[in-house]
Amino acid sequence: AQAAAAVTHVSADRLIDVETGEVIESPLVTIDGNRIVSVVADAAPPEGAIRLAGATLLPGLMDMHVHLTGSADQHGYRRLARTAVRSAITGVKNAQTSLQAGFTTMRNLGAHGYADVALRDAINDGDVPGPRLFVSGPAIGITGGHCDNNLLTHEFAAKGGGVADGPWGVRAKVRENLKYGADLIKLCATGGVMSKGTEPGAQQLALEEMQAAVAEARNRGVIVAAHAHGTEGIKAAIRAGVDSVEHASFLDRETIRLAKKHGTVLSMDIYVTEYILSEGEKAGILPESLDKERRVGSRQRQSFRDAVDAGVKMVFGSDAAVYPHGQNPRQFARMVEFGMTPLQALQAATINSAELLGQQENLGSIRAGKLAEMVAVPGNPLEDISVMEKVQFVMKDGTIYKNSAVTF
Ligand code: ARG
Repeated sequence: AQAAAAVTHVSADRLIDVETGEVIESPLVTIDGNRIVSVVADAAPPEGAIRLAGATLLPGLMDMHVHLTGSADQHGYRRLARTAVRSAITGVKNAQTSLQAGFTTMRNLGAHGYADVALRDAINDGDVPGPRLFVSGPAIGITGGHCDNNLLTHEFAAKGGGVADGPWGVRAKVRENLKYGADLIKLCATGGVMSKGTEPGAQQLALEEMQAAVAEARNRGVIVAAHAHGTEGIKAAIRAGVDSVEHASFLDRETIRLAKKHGTVLSMDIYVTEYILSEGEKAGILPESLDKERRVGSRQRQSFRDAVDAGVKMVFGSDAAVYPHGQNPRQFARMVEFGMTPLQALQAATINSAELLGQQENLGSIRAGKLAEMVAVPGNPLEDISVMEKVQFVMKDGTIYKNSAVTF
């Protein structure tokens, strides 16, 4: 990484203002330290400016659902051999890979032993490069549920770090996660694809348990994300007041109406199904999970289209770790294939995500006063969204972490 000079100028062919959809031609972005001070159109770049020929400047990308401390070589029973300390080290590598792919902000939704808290702190302290992280600690869910560890028999007494039952048990777990450094709360409202012995369609945490979690989180000023595939679990999570529903696979009209009414954001990982079905077996994913994916994936893509058509607020959430980190940008093309305009897909990964995090003053668009976090891609993503897979320039907090763009 190259340290931030006092004043930096960045120019490119165009810049997309994701707040309005406006395209600014020949932009010049002026950065002082880690803040953007101005964005000017049709400007002649001054001496010493970073010139990104042929490129489009976009805000730093934001992925609202990853597991940096996990990776695609740790599926099924393989993950039993990993300590939390070892996963933190994996996280260092995955954080760097994600930043190089253009993600300057990520939400880490579930990690063992607070490895995510350690990783966030190491990045914030400048020890290792990585995205700005908002982390949940262990995901909270019922005994035997998606967020428990169900791989072993009772003799081994294996138990997920976030297991809690009953409203007061759940409240206590929320308090514990906050005590050890979580920025937000992740709940498991239904079964899942990757967990052993759970059914994605079945509700797990009860309405009362999720209401307790949300009340406790509100008291402490943190947001709540709920993993939910099945319709009833999604509805209960929305009624309980969660801020985002992850996966949201089995949506129906009533559920979409509820999400709109409550302002619930959907974070739908519609790329990952391709990886699970093509590489999953080799990667050690359990046969029952492959089976569940065959029932969930295509239904989730239909739900995505319905939600987009209905105008539900959406963010970009990929579930990277199930597939290799750094492939996250592949999801942009799927979001467009399944119903979004390219601008909507870009908004999901920028301004909408910044709003979900309550960070719209600092993040989510290239505007004067915000933090200097931006990426450049070759060509125009509004015309060809697949250029998002070729991020060539990355700036986070005023510091350049990648510049493979042709400069002139
Ligand atoms: N972590 C999620 C689960 O195990 C992954 C779901 C992946 N499949 C999908 N179609 N989004 O439930």
